[in-house]
Amino acid sequence: MPRKIIPREPVRRFTTDWFNPRYHQRKFPHHGTLMQQPEGKALVRQALQGLHPNPAGSAVEIGPGRAPLLAELPFREKTFVDVNPEVLKGIKTGKKVRADIRSFTLKNTTELTIINEVLTHIPPSERIKVVEALAEKSQAILIVDRLTFSHQTMREFIEYEINRSRRIELPHKPIPEQIRIEAELTQAEENWKQHAAHERVKRVDFERLEASLERKGFEVCWEIHHTIQPDEKREVYAILTAKRK
Ligand SMILES: C[S@@+](CC[C@H](N)C(=O)[O-])C[C@H]1O[C@@H](n2cnc3c(N)ncnc32)[C@H](O)[C@@H]1O
Repeated sequence: MPRKIIPREPVRRFTTDWFNPRYHQRKFPHHGTLMQQPEGKALVRQALQGLHPNPAGSAVEIGPGRAPLLAELPFREKTFVDVNPEVLKGIKTGKKVRADIRSFTLKNTTELTIINEVLTHIPPSERIKVVEALAEKSQAILIVDRLTFSHQTMREFIEYEINRSRRIELPHKPIPEQIRIEAELTQAEENWKQHAAHERVKRVDFERLEASLERKGFEVCWEIHHTIQPDEKREVYAILTAKRK
């Protein structure tokens, strides 16, 4: 009996939702992935310390989700900006602003602006504009995002590789099985390509961010960190710090 091949995730819908603020308001993850790991939190805190922001001033966190980093820092004035009202309800300190970061502007100068696993949800063509607008009024900036492929994408890739290795034995298989393996390979390749394309769009380009912030007069440093989660998942993150010269 030939197996029926069912394409898994409708990739196009997934891509659109990833960048849709309305999706965040309904159900999208209210937390990133790095702050879920004690090791990750420590990395972010260390990066923040390196910026030496003045706690007597004000600070802003964009997209705090369920892990508002600013809540634990000693700034005189704290502002949290998120598109999702549920997120803001959960924050018990500071000023809360419901806004889409793409149309939000900082009115006053801020000592520190935090953008932790948020830029990935902004369409790539708008990311630099968003950061540059915030940079206009920021003395220091922290940007964190994940660089690793998702597990869904890795699964598609592994499936594609398995099918490729099965193809080597094709001449020795009965014809109906050869046809089935070819079809599975084609489908697996298509799934993998679509997911990989989707991931490329999600991934934040830190080199471009660095160049644009340097042009704006910041001293920029960004590092790549590998982490292993309690369930053995391996992830790669970039943590960027920028300080006005
Ligand atoms: C993946 S969560 C990260 C949350 C938290 N910073 C963390 O690291 O756990 C992304 C957050 O950004 C918010 N967000 C997504 N798109 C946004 C937009 N266009 N404007 C403002 N906030 C947005 C989401 O509501 C969510 O709280």
